[in-house]
Amino acid sequence: MIRFDILTLFPEMFDSVLNCSLTKRALESKVIAVALHNIRDFAAGRHRVTDDTPYGGGSGMVMKIEPVARALEALSPEKEGAIVILLSPQGEPFTQRVAEELSRYRRIILVCGHYEGIDERVLLHLIDRELSIGDYVLSGGELAVMVVVDAVSRLIPGYVGNSESVLIDSFTTGLLEGPHYTRPREYNGWKVPDILLSGHQKNIEAWRRRESLKRTLARRPDLLKNAGLSEEDRTILEELGAEKNNTDDSGA
Ligand code: ADE
Repeated sequence: MIRFDILTLFPEMFDSVLNCSLTKRALESKVIAVALHNIRDFAAGRHRVTDDTPYGGGSGMVMKIEPVARALEALSPEKEGAIVILLSPQGEPFTQRVAEELSRYRRIILVCGHYEGIDERVLLHLIDRELSIGDYVLSGGELAVMVVVDAVSRLIPGYVGNSESVLIDSFTTGLLEGPHYTRPREYNGWKVPDILLSGHQKNIEAWRRRESLKRTLARRPDLLKNAGLSEEDRTILEELGAEKNNTDDSGA
């Protein structure tokens, strides 16, 4: 069981995601637990203000430290060895490797940033790790937190029925997955590759590996250097590179 505590200004954003599909099942079967905490509940005064204008001037509003600090105090993360994470576009990239690291914690506290940013003292003193889910700017950290919760949850034993499918996922193996097919054999004249119908399991595995390498070479060659390739993989990649060069008739 892993527990996620989510600090957000918009807890209602999580309703649909937590009430659907595998996440719902994981919650019901207690593989994961999720607690939502409204940062506004920890803000002072009648108006429960959570943001303010930036020191030094400039546009936009900045999230204040006190409500976040009070919310974290109430959760006392240090007692349970929890990790406290802020989601923001300035964070380190969230990758499958980071998801695997996080899946080893029993408790993860996720803080959703908002407005133009958050008071830097939150980062300096209250946060263990800052993560970004990609090189684009979202209007808040909520969607990013949902991505992290989903990617980490499915690594927890008991989450997905078929644990082998998690093991061979794209990125877990370091490569993109190759194509998948299911019935019918032919649709609209579009056929399933013969090899998959051949029954030769060894040849099928070799074909799948080759397709996986081919796709990674074409779409994400940056992944190849950390993919833990075998000698055989390297030979295949050389062949694929040669094929590509031979058919390269761009006329340049
Ligand atoms: N908040 C806004 N944009 C984000 C991003 N790309 N990743 C994580 N949190 C964010």
